[in-house]
Amino acid sequence: MCGIVGYIGTRQAQDVLISGLAKLEYRGYDSAGVAVGDGACIAVRKKAGKLANLSGELERSPLAGTLGIGHTRWATHGLPNDTNAHPHATEDGKIVIIHNGIIENYLSLKEGLMARGHTFKSETDSEVLAHLIEEAYQGDLYEAVRAALGQVRGAYGIVVTHVDHREIVAARTVSPLVMGVGEGEMFLASDVPALLPYTRKMVFLHDGDMAVLNDDGYRLTDLAGNPVERPVDLIEWDAEAAEKGGFDTYMLKEIYEQPQALTNTLIGRLHDDTGEVNLDINLNPQSFKRISIIACGTAYYAGLVGEYLIEQLARVPVEVDVASEYRYRNPLVSENTLAIVVSQSGETIDTLEALREAKKGGAKTLGVINAKGSSMTRELDDTLYIHAGPEIGVASTKAYTSMVSAFVMLALWLGRARGTLSEMEAKDLLHAARELPRLVEEALAPERVEQIRRVAEKYAHARDYLFLGRGVNAPTAYEGALKLKEISYIHAEAYAAGEMKHGPIALIDAQLPVVVVATESRLLEKTISNVQEVRARSGKVILLLSDGDSENARHADDVLYVPRAHEMVSPVVNAVAMQLLAYFTATALGKDVDKPRNLAKSVTVE
Ligand code: AGP
Repeated sequence: MCGIVGYIGTRQAQDVLISGLAKLEYRGYDSAGVAVGDGACIAVRKKAGKLANLSGELERSPLAGTLGIGHTRWATHGLPNDTNAHPHATEDGKIVIIHNGIIENYLSLKEGLMARGHTFKSETDSEVLAHLIEEAYQGDLYEAVRAALGQVRGAYGIVVTHVDHREIVAARTVSPLVMGVGEGEMFLASDVPALLPYTRKMVFLHDGDMAVLNDDGYRLTDLAGNPVERPVDLIEWDAEAAEKGGFDTYMLKEIYEQPQALTNTLIGRLHDDTGEVNLDINLNPQSFKRISIIACGTAYYAGLVGEYLIEQLARVPVEVDVASEYRYRNPLVSENTLAIVVSQSGETIDTLEALREAKKGGAKTLGVINAKGSSMTRELDDTLYIHAGPEIGVASTKAYTSMVSAFVMLALWLGRARGTLSEMEAKDLLHAARELPRLVEEALAPERVEQIRRVAEKYAHARDYLFLGRGVNAPTAYEGALKLKEISYIHAEAYAAGEMKHGPIALIDAQLPVVVVATESRLLEKTISNVQEVRARSGKVILLLSDGDSENARHADDVLYVPRAHEMVSPVVNAVAMQLLAYFTATALGKDVDKPRNLAKSVTVE
């Protein structure tokens, strides 16, 4: 997720751009840049690091002009440095673009452009757009952008300027763009907060929309050039509400961002036609005999799902460790070991030190990481980025489901490469993975959310909770217990359901809500017998069931139906119900969901 701002009107564009980018820095802060046009030229300034680096430079030597575009970057392709920072310009400096998203086919496009004599400055996928537009330009910027986008596959929010045209051309597919309608001036941004100081009249672009902004206003078309109508909404949010996209908390906003985050995790990596997964990592899938997955907290639970998937699909022995234990247990590591560290922040000190321990032992290392350029990524042999965008809420939500989806892809990739997964099986799983954004969208349907809120409030005053799950959904139970305890402060435990008879069953009584993940699985019957053991002891059973399973609803005091999903990817869909159960319990208890007591977003001290 990056932050984009555009302006055309009578003000000094630089002021609008910097103030708007400051409101969007939560969307990414690897680098920032602006381009300002004064009619004679378009001046570009861009700096790695936080926006303050750029605004300081602009204070010392400001850019004059009343047309401009600006960007704050969450890096996906190319390290966070000055060269890779946006905006990107053509060699003659006449065309300047800013892009948010991922161009799936940028490598083949770049090869073609280079073969036709184009030279590139950056490692980014975005710069390809500038050269495609230049190649298509024949005097009409809008038509050139439209022709360029016709060659592109992937996600984009793009804004483009040309020194010879006093206008801004914009387009969106997947990555959000909103226009602000002023008096004799027009604004553009990735998100509402950047525009509120100037106007409350907003036009939200839809996927496939293009816009041309000029001093007289704007026009909207689709990618085929047909005029499009979009309503002008009047936004009543205050600035803080706007940063949360109108949600009460960052956590809730990020729960609802999961379909978009998953799209960004998966995009460009799944090839339905061949059943192949393209992870763009320089790892030889035959070069190791065992895998160690190392992480903390929620990332550790994502690793447990990864263990199950990799062992099932690729038949490679996997062990999973909490980093704080791994680093002190003199682990058995060799050059035949692949060590996978999992981390949203890429900064968790225990995980970073565990990575160093694994490297000392000669292991190959791979990261499943969200934050580009974070400390771990600088020490790893390679990183599989999850592209979930910045996660502000301390309780991890979208990063977790994106991490699990990354493991689905990794297990598929290893299985195919090591010959333990047939093309047919891979295609089946790959289709299941591709369905995840839609299934998670369905899991967030209002009637489902309302049912979860009702159940959460019903048991909000329980002293304890127990979570149970089996197989690939045992970690779903562990993660559900962690989510609940870290934001509601209710004591919650989780076990593999089959383990209950070996002690935890002593906990069961009429005051104890027991959440059981009993979605479609070959272990469903076994799980239901565990549920009956709970019921026989008057435990209160909250059952997660797959849509349509009315048969097993009779075993529950309360049922949370979730969209039916392939067992191997169901932890992604089931996690949403767990997140919302925790969220509504915590809000019913009046807890600070975004900043729970005693917790930090990233534990960078031991
Ligand atoms: C998750 O909700 C917690 N905030 C915490 O367990 C977190 O997952 C853990 O600290 C690991 O953080 P990381 O993914 O940034 O390494």
